[in-house]
Amino acid sequence: MDAFRIQGGQRLTGTISVDGSKNAALPLLAAALLTDDHVSYSGIPKLSDISNMLTLLKELGCSISEDEQTTTVKVEDSSNAHARYDIVRTMRASVCVLGPLLAKRGIAKVSMPGGCSFGDRPIDLHLRGLEALGARIELDGGDIIAHAERLRGATIFLGGPFGSTVLGTANVMSAATLASGQTIIESAACEPEIVDLANLLNAMGANISGAGTPRITIKGVDELTGTKHEIMPDRIVAGTWAIAAAMTNGDIKIERFPLNQLLAVRDVLEHVGVHIHQLDAEQDTNACSVQIVTDRVLKPVIFTTQPFPGFPTDLQAQMMALLCLARGNSIITEKIYPERFMHVPELSRMGARLVRQGATVVVQGVDHLVGAPVMASDLRASASLVLAGLAAEGETIVSRVYHLDRGYANMEKILKSLGANIERLASEQVDDFLPAVETVSKNQVIQSNS
Ligand code: EPU
Repeated sequence: MDAFRIQGGQRLTGTISVDGSKNAALPLLAAALLTDDHVSYSGIPKLSDISNMLTLLKELGCSISEDEQTTTVKVEDSSNAHARYDIVRTMRASVCVLGPLLAKRGIAKVSMPGGCSFGDRPIDLHLRGLEALGARIELDGGDIIAHAERLRGATIFLGGPFGSTVLGTANVMSAATLASGQTIIESAACEPEIVDLANLLNAMGANISGAGTPRITIKGVDELTGTKHEIMPDRIVAGTWAIAAAMTNGDIKIERFPLNQLLAVRDVLEHVGVHIHQLDAEQDTNACSVQIVTDRVLKPVIFTTQPFPGFPTDLQAQMMALLCLARGNSIITEKIYPERFMHVPELSRMGARLVRQGATVVVQGVDHLVGAPVMASDLRASASLVLAGLAAEGETIVSRVYHLDRGYANMEKILKSLGANIERLASEQVDDFLPAVETVSKNQVIQSNS
């Protein structure tokens, strides 16, 4: 398994641009199952999760054609409606084929996703929503099997103990486009990725209003057609780059920055002393150019992760790495995934002073972090370790970067272009740089399924 070797201490400077969003692209690709026409996407990021989704779509009878700019999906054969365990276990988001398959083919068989490295990740709300649309759902041999002649519109409440569900909203909204009659989703997820999906579906002929608010109304139609769509920029990648600049006291310009979708992050960063300046006030705030400028002394802050428009859980780990370097005590509370703290013991190995109690971590700021061999078992935790490594004194080896390859395209190349001293070590090189006790068996693969 590849690793990153980072010599910390380089100030990041320069200009980068944000790629298309992974978490938007996954349900949008699955939506191609709702039509027999071509659906073409631009801005699909080159990530392992995306390759997994394209492999799954091929298994489900789609042809895929790709060039530098565009990925086109077309259903050729509708006979297989089974998303197998092999794929679902490597990528939880495979579950977003459930709604489209059921609505278009009348049957969907999707392996039940298990928990993941940061806790239980149930899909009860997805299933409840589809049942409300008239699906008959059973569990057989670890597979969810859903049947329906034709779904029928209903009013559905999608709130759960931790708020709404993003992929659950995507599944129910997609399925309801082809239902008879009107569907209202109450307590829908308001995330921008849901708005991007609704925009795609409407361009395919669906009739959806209210996406981006807690009440989405879908008037069912008989069929959907093909379209072309550009994927929105990745707000989590954008936020990660902003925090990377701040961690190295850097000064970087980021293009295609979705400022409008990161207002909670901007607010927390502003308290800390990190300023996101929009460079051209005329530009679309969903994809504008910004400059990240950081005060010399970082201040502590208290924040809680929340559903959109609150502070995103997917930037909690990266923000924790930054707050390790603030002068004073910060408090972070995780309200979406109370167990999402895999990075805490690893950051501690780098000199961070962190005290966890349940879903809250107190971060006592330190003067500096020190490089160390570290590993993490999910995507965003790994990102926080890379950021910590950029700021740390000495050398950091971040093992298992396959987690990062799921969500950050060319991470080391982008950071290098900003002046970071970072290189990718191929699996066979890694042992040369790790103390013997850190060596990970080449056969040991931690399930990667966030
Ligand atoms: N939940 C339930 N029941 C359900 C579904 C969810 O109780 O049926 C709970 C979850 O356990 C969690 C909360 O509701 O506590 C929110 O989960 P949600 O369903 O919204 O998560 P998701 O849709 O599976 C997406 C992103 C995650 C991101 C979350 C929250 C994708 C592919 N994944 O997951 O992204 O953390 O929303 O914003 O869109 C990542 O990119 O690193 C990542 C994990």
